[in-house]
Amino acid sequence: MNRKKTVTAAMLLRAKQRGEKSVWLTAYDTVSAKIAEEAGVDVLLVGDSLGMVCLGSETTISVTLEQMIHHTAAVVRGRSGAWVVCDLPFGTYQRSPEQAFVTSVRALQETACDAVKLEGGEPMAKTICFLADRGIAVVAHIGLTPQSVKKFGGYGKRGQSRDEQTQLKNDARAVMEAGAVALVLENIPHGLAADITDMVDIPTIGIGAGPACDAQILVWHDLLGMSERSPPFAPAYANVRQVMNDAIRQWTNDVRNGRFPEDVS
Ligand code: KIV
Repeated sequence: MNRKKTVTAAMLLRAKQRGEKSVWLTAYDTVSAKIAEEAGVDVLLVGDSLGMVCLGSETTISVTLEQMIHHTAAVVRGRSGAWVVCDLPFGTYQRSPEQAFVTSVRALQETACDAVKLEGGEPMAKTICFLADRGIAVVAHIGLTPQSVKKFGGYGKRGQSRDEQTQLKNDARAVMEAGAVALVLENIPHGLAADITDMVDIPTIGIGAGPACDAQILVWHDLLGMSERSPPFAPAYANVRQVMNDAIRQWTNDVRNGRFPEDVS
């Protein structure tokens, strides 16, 4: 995406219309936000993957709104022009549109982020409409939706059967018509993601959904090779875990052997 200093939802939409890819990356703190922006990332998503990659949880289900607010505020402090999206955690928006509104207002007011993201398709359309009608930018997320891992029993690919593909297309249409400004497609067949990207007027953001999506997103720790395990669709572009390990090991040896600190007196 050819971007000016401050990214907006309208700019992301124009990028889709012009066929320009936008680049999304997760971030969880101020320093990662600054590094990602320096490297040219357009959108910073404070994902509830926070629970798994930073806080040691097995799933995203335990992440709280307070944790999301704490980390999103840190990311906002580090951004200069990127669009910042805060994931709404499990249990903080599904009960009713009103509950989702109260949660979104907290996220927006307490972090100064630009948009909220929620998981779900057709069943969340009423909620997305309620939020959009009240001026909130909502990013929807369908396909593999990690907050439903207990229901689906794992993180496998979605949209494998014809019925599921039809449902995902209905989901995409429903969230667009409800007023979502963008749509994350996670771990679905590439052809299906291409069809959905053609079908909807809002930008699609793919993760494990192939090259036809309007934008791509990866989790910070996967991209940089910091994760112990990462999904097959998330190749590491560096081995930062090894770089950190080497530096810490060298310093540890230097301390034990009396080489650090140098005696300058
Ligand atoms: O929580 C997250 O990081 C996400 C992305 C993987 C899309 O939802």
